[in-house]
Amino acid sequence: MVDYLRQIWDVDSLSPHGICLLWRPELVWTHALSDLLIGLAYFSIPVALGVFVMRRRDLAFSWMFWCFVFFILACGTTHFMAIWTLWVPDYGAEAVLKVVTAAASVATAVMLWPLLPRALALPSPEALRAANRELATRVAERDAALDALRRETAERLKAEEMLRQSQKMEAIGQLTGGVAHDFNNLLTAVGANLERIERQAEDGSSIRRSARSATAAVERASKLVRQLLAFARKQPLDPRRTDVNAAVENLSDLLDRTLGAGIRIELAPRSGPLFAQVDTNGLESAILNLAVNARDAMPTGGVLRIETGTLRADGGDADLPAGDYVTIEVSDTGSGMGPEIASHAFEPFFTTKEVGQGSGLGLSQVWGFVKQSSGHVTLRSAPGEGTCVRIILPVAEPDRAPASEPAAEPALGAAPRIALA
Ligand SMILES: Nc1ncnc2c1ncn2[C@@H]1O[C@H](COP(=O)(O)OP(=O)(O)OP(=O)(O)O)[C@@H](O)[C@H]1O
Ligand SMILES: [Mg+2]
Repeated sequence: MVDYLRQIWDVDSLSPHGICLLWRPELVWTHALSDLLIGLAYFSIPVALGVFVMRRRDLAFSWMFWCFVFFILACGTTHFMAIWTLWVPDYGAEAVLKVVTAAASVATAVMLWPLLPRALALPSPEALRAANRELATRVAERDAALDALRRETAERLKAEEMLRQSQKMEAIGQLTGGVAHDFNNLLTAVGANLERIERQAEDGSSIRRSARSATAAVERASKLVRQLLAFARKQPLDPRRTDVNAAVENLSDLLDRTLGAGIRIELAPRSGPLFAQVDTNGLESAILNLAVNARDAMPTGGVLRIETGTLRADGGDADLPAGDYVTIEVSDTGSGMGPEIASHAFEPFFTTKEVGQGSGLGLSQVWGFVKQSSGHVTLRSAPGEGTCVRIILPVAEPDRAPASEPAAEPALGAAPRIALA
């Protein structure tokens, strides 16, 4: 082997390649220039490949590119060597260079072929783009499904909250109704006996004075009981065909006097008469109740607006069976309510007023009255943005005879819907 290498390196007896070309310049220089260009190109390609592989760290089979780099560099060097041997017969060095190039070529070829199926199995850019598009569609579908789920959950939570509120109002209503009914009977007996004592007692006697003040207390208690019965939907009502616009108009003088000078009253009746099937007195006292609440919420003045209108329910709302309704909106520009107060406002005895200023029965009375009238009531309010209470009552049929019997008690009343602006 050593001999073999020594012989390869022994170039003394050899002549340069140019001699084979008889030193014909056109041949020598064509060979030289071509080999030079090929060599330079061969050297520039590995540089580009190297930069590419280094920049694209995610490249699959990057080691194969390094094989190409080495193989192409070796090929390029053989061309430079070919120029050299035109003039210098270093055929031993050229042979060693060719051996190295052959080894690099064979190794690259051997490694390349088994790689081919795996390289072909890689997704093409078009396949990647299609996969991306598919992925984007799936993500959009998932986002839409998530949004729908979120909406559904929110709606369910809202429905559950309304159901809870409605069950609470129903339970309080039943309890209140029962207690108020029994109290009413007791008060009737107490009142009748006090009246008898008062009649039998001498004029100006202390017994008569005591009996009179006891009777006054019984009357106050009876008023309270009536309010409780109204909330429990058990007050005697006389629903009849009532022109809501006329009822509001009739109230305007009383409202002027009750609300005082600092509050501007705006009436916005829908044009023409607007008939609802409702107890007229009950409706007027409900509107008055709401107006008094509005006044209390506007201690420094403001605007009270009463607007009437119509509404057609399609039955999609559980609180409002399909049909035509008359609406009365009482809104103010007062202090408004936060969610916590609003969620309790219709409960009996709930008040934020000072002791002795309010009994907390105003809104509960309105609620009981509207429910007993087969209607519905909603509340929209936000702190600092005023309050709007909307009473919704069934429209009176034109040909319906005025009813003289009390309205049938509606099915379990739903809680007033409370919307917070
Ligand atoms: N228009 C309104 N603006 C702001 N808060 C209101 C309004 N109406 C009602 N409220 C709130 O709801 C609570 C309950 O009202 P409700 O009418 O039932 O009782 P009240 O006004 O306190 O007492 P009263 O029995 O004398 O009417 C009030 O104390 C108040 O906090
Ligand atoms: Mg009130």
